Order: sequence, then C-alpha cells, then structure tokens
Amino acid sequence: MTDPSPQAPDTSPETLTPLQRLARFARDLGTHTDRSLIARRILTELCEVTARPTGTLYLLDQERERYTRLTSFGKESAAANAPAISSTHPLVTRLAHRTTVLALTDPSSLTPADEGTVPSVLEALQVSIAIPLLNKGRLLAFALLGPLPDSPQPSQDGMELLIVLAQNAANALDSMLVHDDLRQSHTLMRRTDRLRSLEIIAGGFAHEIRNPLTSIKTFIQLAPERREDAEFIRDFSRIVLEDVYRIERLIQEILDYARYMEPTLTDEDLNEVVSSCLYFVEMKTATKRIKIEKELAPDLPRVMLDRQQVQQVLLNLLLNAIDAMNIQDGRLTVRTHRLTRPGNQTWAQIEIEDNGAGISADNLAHIFDPFFTTKHASGEHAGTGLGLTIVHQIVHEHDGDIQVESTEGVGTTFFVNLPAIPIT
Ligand SMILES: Nc1ncnc2c1ncn2[C@@H]1O[C@H](COP(=O)(O)OP(=O)(O)OP(=O)(O)O)[C@@H](O)[C@H]1O
Ligand SMILES: [Mg+2]
Repeated sequence: MTDPSPQAPDTSPETLTPLQRLARFARDLGTHTDRSLIARRILTELCEVTARPTGTLYLLDQERERYTRLTSFGKESAAANAPAISSTHPLVTRLAHRTTVLALTDPSSLTPADEGTVPSVLEALQVSIAIPLLNKGRLLAFALLGPLPDSPQPSQDGMELLIVLAQNAANALDSMLVHDDLRQSHTLMRRTDRLRSLEIIAGGFAHEIRNPLTSIKTFIQLAPERREDAEFIRDFSRIVLEDVYRIERLIQEILDYARYMEPTLTDEDLNEVVSSCLYFVEMKTATKRIKIEKELAPDLPRVMLDRQQVQQVLLNLLLNAIDAMNIQDGRLTVRTHRLTRPGNQTWAQIEIEDNGAGISADNLAHIFDPFFTTKHASGEHAGTGLGLTIVHQIVHEHDGDIQVESTEGVGTTFFVNLPAIPIT
C-alpha cells in the first residue's frame, strides 16, 4: 500500500546548493520526534536528490530480524507493496556490506558480488536505486527508489550528496530507535513495579478479609441455636453487615487499582483541575468547621496529565486532610507553584496543607504501603489504606513524585510535583 498523504517529492530543477540542502535536512530531522514524520522527511529528500518519483523506506525490526516498511509514496511499486523484507534477503545482505548507493543505471555502483542477483532483484521490486542507511556498521534502514531505470542517473556530485544525506538519516533513525528502546524499558519497569504491588495487594487482601470472614462465619454457625436471642441476633447482624461492607469496599478499591490503565495524557491547566476538586470538597466540608483556602500560581506551567486520574489523586489527598481535621477551626490550604528543578527543568507543584492530627514518624514510613490505615473503626467509612498507594502509583505513572512533611499535633503537608510540558 502506498501512503497517500505525503506530497510527491519536488523533482523540479534544484536551486539549493548541496550544503544548503544538507543543512536544511539536518535541521528538519532534528526538529521531528515523530517516527512517521522523520521517515517521510528522509524519503522525500532522497527522492528529490535522485529525481525519483516513488520510494519506500524500510526500518530494522530488531526483534524479528527483518526490515519493515516505514513509509512509501509515489506510484505503487512491488517494493511499496512488501510490508517486510527478511534480513537474509539477498538485496539486504548486499546493502549491509556497503556504504555506497546501488544504482541500476550506474554499472560502476555494482560490485562483482552484486552482479549475479542484485539487478534482477531490483527489477523485480520495480526500483532502480537502493540506498543503505548504516550506523556504526549496522544496516538500520534502507530506501528503495523507483521506477525502473528510465529516469536519468544522478550526477557524481548528486551521488556524493546522497551518501552524506544517508549518513545523516541513519543517525536520526538511530537516535529514534534508542529513544523508543528507552521508552519501552520505562514502560516495562512500570509494569513490573505494578505487578509486584499487585502481588503485595493480593496478599494484603487475603489478610484483611480474614477477620470479617471469621465473624461472618461465627454468626452463621451460632445463629440457629441463638435464634430466640433477639439481642444477640440484632447486635451480631449489625457487626456482620459492617464486615460485609468492609469486604465490599476492599474489593472495589482493589478492582480500581487493578483496572487502572495507562494514563491518557492531555494538555491541561492544573489550576483548573485543582479548583474543580476543591469545589467538590467544599460541598463535603460545608457541615464541618473547616476553612478552605486556595492560592493558585498565575504562572503555573501547563502539564500533560490524565485529568480523571489527577483528580483522583487530589481528592484522595484532600479527603485524607479532612479526615485528619476532626477538630474545630480546621484549616485546609491548597497552593500551586511553578518550580525550577536541577537541569533547568520546569515543574508544577501542588501543595496540600492541613492543621490536622499529623502523622507520627513511625507511621510516616508506611503511609504509602497498601492497606496501611489508622482508620480502623468498622463501618461504611472506615479506611482501607489503599488511597495513598493509588495516589503514589498515579503520580509516578505521570513521571512525577510526591513528598510529605508532617508533625504530630500540628499538621501535614503533601507536595505533588509534575513535570511541565517542555517549551519547544
Ligand atoms: N493528611 C493526613 N493527616 C494525617 N494522617 C494522614 C493524612 N493523610 C494520610 N494519613 C495517614 O495515612 C494513612 C493511609 O492513608 P490512605 O489514604 O492510604 O488510607 P486511608 O485514608 O486510611 O483509607 P482509604 O483507602 O479509604 O483512603 C491514613 O490512615 C492516615 O493514618
Ligand atoms: Mg485515604
């Protein structure tokens, strides 16, 4: 299949000098990070310089030992229709051993080793020029340009320019592959982290439901013989109902955690996300004597975030703060700040401060652990201890971090830091 979207290359007589052309090409490759844009830019340039109207670019697929089509344009050719070419294909093995271009129109470009198979392979693919893109001696990609050799042969200067452009293109593709590899291992690490915490959570869940299950079981065993004892039945069924609520709540939180998906990031105004959560919390605190203050930085940088998940983070932190302030004159202050961190990177920070009970030094080391809670009171509103585990997970999935400062009897402040969108 031919990619219809890119413009056909400009094959009109060139007005740029080779140096200007090279500078423009290098600059364009440096500004793109998107794989398909880089691929199209490379292919357009190679087609322009060789005055070939059709082309296909293949990129090394390291895991499957083959080259897959990255992009193509121009009239359909056999090359454009091949989704992948094996790394043992005779054309590929020939390209891997040369730094120069293979051109059907230029017999001098064919070595004796090429002569047997290469011309017929190129003809079968309906291409006349094959350009290897090598980096550190490895064939990273190659371009096949067509059609068959009725177009003029590029000049000697053109051929030399082509080799320099190909080297530039290979370097750009190499950085792109390194970047992709890094991103993949990052995702893998996160996934492994996640599996490990799910393992802890599953173990914790078994432990957490043991007590309520024991009480439910005891009630069921005793109920037949105590059925006449109205007080027993009334009191015990209330306890059992609370235990059932607790199990339901645990199941719900674990499902929320397990169902958790990769964040869908959008460009957001964090101040606005904070305000929307505060609106909800204000309604919840209307009956309590808690004063809410908000100080939002006017120069807060924009952040790429999953709005729903960051709202979940803020609500968990705000509700924890409210739980901790079961006192008169509670004061909850939410601030946002623009931060500059080492390396001159800009971050956005949300600070949530309360003057509640505070957290003891011993407890502080465990607040992010699954099932750590001091809200043991049975009932529908008791804590499960998964709130901060989920908060921590989400913040890290956003490449951010979370810090906490607390003094018992004075209050607690949480800081959520998220990297700003870099200015390009
Ligand atoms: N702002 C705060 N002030 C005082 N203690 C806090 C604060 N935030 C968290 N904590 C402590 O950390 C513990 C863990 O919090 P976390 O949100 O994970 O669980 P939880 O609130 O107990 O239950 P839930 O899973 O329902 O949120 C709390 O039980 C509490 O002891
Ligand atoms: Mg909580």
